[in-house]
Amino acid sequence: MNRFEEIRQQFLEEAKERVDSQSIYELRKAYLDRKIGKVNALMKEMRSIPKEDKAAFGQGVNALKDWVLEQLTEMESKARAAELQRRYEREKIDVTVPGKEIKRGKLHPITQMKEQMVNVFAGMGFEIYEGSEIENDYYNFTALNTPMDHPARDMQDTFYLSPEFLLRTQTSAGQIHVMEQEKPPIKILSPGKVFRSDDDATHSPMFSQMEGLVVDKGITLCDLQGMLDEFVQQIYGEGTHTRLRPSFFPFTEPSVEVDVSCFACGGKGCKLCKGTGWIEILGAGVVNKKVLENCGIDSDVYSGFAFGIGIERAAMLKYGINNIKLLFESDLRVLDQIDDM
Ligand code: PHE
Repeated sequence: MNRFEEIRQQFLEEAKERVDSQSIYELRKAYLDRKIGKVNALMKEMRSIPKEDKAAFGQGVNALKDWVLEQLTEMESKARAAELQRRYEREKIDVTVPGKEIKRGKLHPITQMKEQMVNVFAGMGFEIYEGSEIENDYYNFTALNTPMDHPARDMQDTFYLSPEFLLRTQTSAGQIHVMEQEKPPIKILSPGKVFRSDDDATHSPMFSQMEGLVVDKGITLCDLQGMLDEFVQQIYGEGTHTRLRPSFFPFTEPSVEVDVSCFACGGKGCKLCKGTGWIEILGAGVVNKKVLENCGIDSDVYSGFAFGIGIERAAMLKYGINNIKLLFESDLRVLDQIDDM
């Protein structure tokens, strides 16, 4: 009986500090393991117990075993509950916290404008030609009927990289590359960056243009205006139309300045159109015969038209931006407002 009590006391002593499943499991092993458990070891002593005491000894061992088991079961369930509680606390989530707003990115306004323009002309069958930003004097000027001493060179202040190479001042340089490489019919659209030494609220030393060129038999200024009318309606809304005014470019003859009827006031006159009802949007004209000949295209058989649109200007007009710098500063307070696709 003393042995049983001794083991009981020992067990209680060892159980005191054990509150986690792992150490309780070790305690279970120390007492109830078939081979090394202290309680099971008692059974082996049965042999040396006098016959008349064997029954009482066996009952004592069983009672002790039941007691130890009961203790362990209670300890284990307490430990499990405490562990579960800790886990609940650790993994607590507040389902009422408002979700984090994930901001959707947008295309830059210049890209939005450019893609809309490309879409309109792609629908008319134009193909994209990507020119290069570094050109030589021949492609940017001379082949476009603007020789070295031509006064029209002063229209565009040029960044020269060397006496021969320069940053293109106009996407028109691409016209020459295309006409050198392809025979008519030609119908290309060439968007890209251009560079001029020019800097104020409406001019930036780097800006974007969209060149259009069509060359085929029997192309006239009427074809140009027809396409541009369709274009302005799709970009600035139904009911807008164009007006051609005489102008000058060395590479087109005749040359025109194209105005769009004011899409803000419908032509009545407002701040945007400065009371005139019209807004200038691009330069264009019938391709100068000299330019066709420079590219080996027979100007008695073929004719064409070309136009060049300033993409920033088109975007500023459409989105009501009054300073071109806002398009280059990447200020999200500005960019966030323009979602036009
Ligand atoms: N390249 C001219 C400019 O930058 C625009 C233009 C293009 C005019 C094609 C006529 C024909 O001002």
